[in-house]
Amino acid sequence: MVSLTSRFIALAALLGAFGGSEVAFAAPTAAADPCVKVAGKTFVPPADALACLKSFPFNETLRQNVLTVVDRVFNFYTFEDYYLNSPPPFQDSTVNIRAQLKRINTTKYATDYDFNHDLFVFTSQLNDGHTRWLPSCYETYQNLLPAPVVTLEENGVEGVFVVPDLTDFIPLLGSNFTDFFKAQNFDWERLAGARVLKIQGQDPYAYAETIAHTQSGNYLDHGVRVNSVFSSYRISGTDFSQRFGDIAGPVFPDLESLTMTVQVVNASRPETVKIPFLASYAGADFTNGADFWANNCAANSDTNGIDFKNAAQVAKLTSDAPLRARKLAKASIVDLSQKVSIGLPSQFEPTVPTVNGSEGVIKSYVLPDGKTGVMFVGSFEPDDFFGFQTDVQSSFADFQSKGVSQLIVDLTNNGGGFVCLGQFLHAFLVGTKSLGTFQNPGFQSTMRANPLAQKIVASDIALGLDDNFSFYTPDNWAFLNDTEMPLTHNYITPASTRTINGQQFVESQRFADVCETGFVVDIPEEPFFAPDKIAIVGNANCASTCAMFSTLMNERHNTTIANFGGMPGTQFEFKGMAGNQVLEWFDIDSEIKTANLKDDPLAPPDLLVNADFRHNWRIAYSFLDETTPIEYHSERSRFRFAYTAETYNNPQNLWTFATSKLFS
Ligand SMILES: *[C@@H]1O[C@H](CO)[C@@H](O)[C@H](O)[C@H]1NC(C)=O
Ligand SMILES: *[C@@H]1O[C@H](CO)[C@@H](O)[C@H](O)[C@H]1NC(C)=O
Ligand SMILES: *[C@@H]1O[C@H](CO)[C@@H](O)[C@H](O)[C@H]1NC(C)=O
Ligand SMILES: *[C@@H]1O[C@H](CO)[C@@H](O)[C@H](O)[C@H]1NC(C)=O
Ligand SMILES: *[C@@H]1O[C@H](CO)[C@@H](O)[C@H](O)[C@H]1NC(C)=O
Ligand SMILES: *[C@@H]1O[C@H](CO)[C@@H](O)[C@H](O)[C@H]1NC(C)=O
Ligand SMILES: *[C@@H]1O[C@H](CO)[C@@H](O)[C@H](O)[C@H]1NC(C)=O
Ligand SMILES: *[C@@H]1O[C@H](CO)[C@@H](O)[C@H](O)[C@H]1NC(C)=O
Repeated sequence: MVSLTSRFIALAALLGAFGGSEVAFAAPTAAADPCVKVAGKTFVPPADALACLKSFPFNETLRQNVLTVVDRVFNFYTFEDYYLNSPPPFQDSTVNIRAQLKRINTTKYATDYDFNHDLFVFTSQLNDGHTRWLPSCYETYQNLLPAPVVTLEENGVEGVFVVPDLTDFIPLLGSNFTDFFKAQNFDWERLAGARVLKIQGQDPYAYAETIAHTQSGNYLDHGVRVNSVFSSYRISGTDFSQRFGDIAGPVFPDLESLTMTVQVVNASRPETVKIPFLASYAGADFTNGADFWANNCAANSDTNGIDFKNAAQVAKLTSDAPLRARKLAKASIVDLSQKVSIGLPSQFEPTVPTVNGSEGVIKSYVLPDGKTGVMFVGSFEPDDFFGFQTDVQSSFADFQSKGVSQLIVDLTNNGGGFVCLGQFLHAFLVGTKSLGTFQNPGFQSTMRANPLAQKIVASDIALGLDDNFSFYTPDNWAFLNDTEMPLTHNYITPASTRTINGQQFVESQRFADVCETGFVVDIPEEPFFAPDKIAIVGNANCASTCAMFSTLMNERHNTTIANFGGMPGTQFEFKGMAGNQVLEWFDIDSEIKTANLKDDPLAPPDLLVNADFRHNWRIAYSFLDETTPIEYHSERSRFRFAYTAETYNNPQNLWTFATSKLFS
């Protein structure tokens, strides 16, 4: 710590001497450039990583650029007015957004990191994974503690433990990770399964709540965020993975160690141990500070939006980022812990074979009882939008051939994805006969009708654009009777106004999604399983499209939902983040450029740094209360179960347990 501080002073003095130099980011000498020390290394002590991140001085030009973008994009944010006084049980997410922006505009920051960190924390504490400032520059390192924790029930009592599979899990990070601790003579292996009595001097659940309140973000409900601080299983990409959890895997390398009081297995008395963090690098290669800035921090050709009318710009996208070129509505969160994705130790993966259609983000099985099918839907954001649908069809065909009579859908750590794949899975599960009883297969939706949004729709209509060019064109939507809107129908002007927390909130007319046109497999007429033979399980870290899917199943079909984990004795929502479609910075900037409105005084400028400022762009209204977004309609699962040492990292054990509890 001492050496770190003195290095800062030395660096600050050096930069002061160069005051106002154009090459403030260039490292004058290797000795004075803290990035040189960490260049080329995957694992470095957090203090060294932080010294590199903090080596870029605060720059007022960049602050004004970033805040102007953030301020103007917030005009599109659907939930701004709710934040002035978030309704219970979400009251801990109350923030005056514009006041925070003013504060950040006038705070004195020593470094560019400090400014970005402040903006990151403010947006992350909105607890809306759809609305966040994500600076590529400072998401390069993730801190990892060789002692992830879980909450488990043992002999009827819940407590916090270091993960019992520690000695199988941690070595998957490789010997460069474990050698660091060996060199320090730190024996992490003996902590496997230790009971945790205190973390940083606090009761471990109190510490878990603090992290859920100040760091986890992403999910509006506090109880759901508690689950993200603990380790859990998930599907990352198309593989089983074990998440570190936010206590052991925070985003910034700003803690050097965590102090825990633990009772290690078979020990006669508790002891207090100081466990070192190690920072893991997942950014672009660099050799020094100037490179680090150029490769991670400066805006590049993918940062800002394009004019979708310009064929050359679109062609470039199709080769570099084909998914961006396709206009498919997305609702997903960004779990920064995905950057360092470690496998689930293979002995804890299901032992029953997969059924057909399990190569992608969905893994399906028949349990040893021969009658329970399981579909673990790891994400709604597959590489192949159509492949997801054929996978569902193949799995159900295989379930049927194997005589399965009941179904568990596992949504653990499903961060969402394509809006229409959630509607597809819902339709496929319930069948067209049931769907026919309600006209709108998704939720009624609106977007914010700020003056620039109204200009965009008017301009798109005047230019005769269609949904190949823009998410704002009317053919993206249907009237509430499920008929697609004609290209000339202006659904945003005149706007509709309602009062939220004393503010006049102005939104478009209500509309529905037009997902059916993207369905490539036939939806069965009769469902494969009766509604009471389908149950959903998970840890409620089910965001966006996942939240819309589970809410549809709950609101339309009263499906049994069981959540695992959480604080002992508390209830929590089954849906983590139930906004609707998200627009990334690239998307909204492209909308503005495509509508020829980049020169409008209300339009945000291009970003000068490589970052994303995403926002929740659309609302989904609850069927149970059509004046309330599902985001703010409290919906809890019928069952809550504690994890045990047998289920927290073992999906098949969890499904077998759930089957015994949820089906008669
Ligand atoms: C601040 O950033 C701008 C934009 O990247 C750059 O042109 C300028 O040189 C920087 N100022 C300093 C003092 O480094
Ligand atoms: C920040 O404050 C300054 C001084 O009041 C003002 O000129 C500037 O426009 C503000 N920046 C933003 C992005 O609001
Ligand atoms: C471990 O680190 C060394 C030196 O930095 C590197 O050459 C090697 O590739 C790393 N090994 C792995 C498995 O990442
Ligand atoms: C703890 O004690 C039990 C019973 O003596 C023994 O089977 C087990 O291996 C011990 N575990 C550890 C980690 O020492
Ligand atoms: C499962 O896939 C295999 C291999 O593609 C195929 O032969 C089989 O018919 C499929 N089973 C069902 C029930 O569709
Ligand atoms: C719009 O996209 C559709 C496919 O979604 C394609 O068939 C059509 O040619 C596109 N039209 C234009 C003008 O690019
Ligand atoms: C659906 O509603 C729109 C708008 O009210 C109307 O113009 C259209 O005729 C309706 N379509 C059907 C099939 O009822
Ligand atoms: C949903 O199902 C539960 C359990 O069967 C039942 O108690 C409850 O009344 C049902 N709710 C509705 C709205 O049908």
